[in-house]
Amino acid sequence: MKSLNYRFPHSRQDSGQMNLTRSQLGQAQQVTNVLNNRQNEQNIDRSPAPMVHGLHKLAVPSSQQSSANHSKKSSISKQQQPKQISFLNYLILKDKSQIAQDEEKENINEPVVQKNMFNFQFVIGIGGFGKVWKVEYKKNGQIYAMKEMSKALIIAKKSVNSVMNERNILSNLKHPFLVNIYYAFQDRENLFLVLDYMQGGDLRYHIGKMRRFTEDQTRFFMACIFLGLEYMHSKNSLHRDIKPENLVLDKHGRIHQLYWLGYVRITDLGIARNLRPENSQDTSGTPGYMAPEVMCRQNHSFAVDYFALGVIGYEFMLGKRPYTGRTRKDIRDQILAKQVQIKRSEIPDNWSLESADFINRLIQRKPANRLGFNGPHELRQHSWFKNFPWSKLMNKELKSPYIPNQNEDNFDARQISMEDEENNELIQQHSIMLRRNSIQSQFSGYEMDNFSEKQNTLFNNF
Ligand SMILES: Nc1ncnc2c1ncn2[C@@H]1O[C@H](COP(=O)(O)OP(=O)(O)O)[C@@H](O)[C@H]1O
Ligand SMILES: [Mg+2]
Repeated sequence: MKSLNYRFPHSRQDSGQMNLTRSQLGQAQQVTNVLNNRQNEQNIDRSPAPMVHGLHKLAVPSSQQSSANHSKKSSISKQQQPKQISFLNYLILKDKSQIAQDEEKENINEPVVQKNMFNFQFVIGIGGFGKVWKVEYKKNGQIYAMKEMSKALIIAKKSVNSVMNERNILSNLKHPFLVNIYYAFQDRENLFLVLDYMQGGDLRYHIGKMRRFTEDQTRFFMACIFLGLEYMHSKNSLHRDIKPENLVLDKHGRIHQLYWLGYVRITDLGIARNLRPENSQDTSGTPGYMAPEVMCRQNHSFAVDYFALGVIGYEFMLGKRPYTGRTRKDIRDQILAKQVQIKRSEIPDNWSLESADFINRLIQRKPANRLGFNGPHELRQHSWFKNFPWSKLMNKELKSPYIPNQNEDNFDARQISMEDEENNELIQQHSIMLRRNSIQSQFSGYEMDNFSEKQNTLFNNF
């Protein structure tokens, strides 16, 4: 089943020709919503209500209040006989407080966030285990992306470790150039991740539409990706699946409250790993972007992500990848056969020599020869980034040189519905297994809801 670990680049060609409009998708989703609501109704016994804190809080100040009055004006208190009333009140409140405490104890291990707390608006992407939705958190109107992953598909693809790992790594990271996590939860059929919503779509969609990017656009994108990677590496995590599908465009702007699209963030930590010295067996990834040392089952380190970054630069400059082929073996043979380099004659008009040099150094087959092998400073110090305004980029004060159309859907609805159909077939074949406790228990501990509202607000200001 090894091949199931590999992710081939989606061939989202001709993505400008959309057959389904957002409203058509909306109609399809209404049906899904109805089905989901029915499912929620059936799940009510298993999905408890959120914790109740209100009564508990009320009881404490009330009793403090009555004792304060008593000490200040004891003689008057005696005449008006408030003591008896407040004692009664005290008993009632004490009783309510006890109930609230008991309820709290009962609910302690139960999820605070669940599916029916969100309005599902429409599908914005699709992955190996299910759809990604634009959702609204009913409680506060906040918009998020929700990655829904079918347990049946996860089991069918032998990927329980990957999804548990994704949730664990995500919860240790928080950065303006990553898609950050807010909540994780599950029901009987699915796992859910609630993430930053990136309304600009992914770079596979945009490169499909544009065919190539300009030098300025490519440098800007690569710089954003670099900042996300530099942070992940500082936390000892390798992404290992950097490719256009996993790079999404963010709305942004701080100057005079202006907002524009075009900052890139890294998403999909499905095969990310914390660095271990002995990792030659970790061979997941996407052939074409996968570093040769991973392909050849050798121990590998942070430089694998810089190789993928180089492939992206090459693709954005020339409209093709350096090593192509239909199978993993084809691509491996090509990598082993020769070191691809951008030749002087291939550099497009208006692109600098420095750009080609930067990309050539990233796509080095031998990790030790690769830019970034000795640390991220090697990328920052390259002449292509001479005088680059890194701190302005970090603060998102630069205007992106690529601004996608804000009025269009930035995703390929046809591609989504095709992949959804394939997923649904597999789900049907494997869903019976979800009845087994031994299967469900493999997902235990997936929930994460310990982010306070304050943290959420901070996140959204990135
Ligand atoms: N936070 C997000 N905002 C907007 N779109 C997203 C977001 N996360 C993912 N997507 C879209 O959904 C697709 C699938 O999500 P991804 O996390 O890559 O799933 P998988 O691990 O199955 O590949 C992505 O290629 C992207 O187009
Ligand atoms: Mg992906």
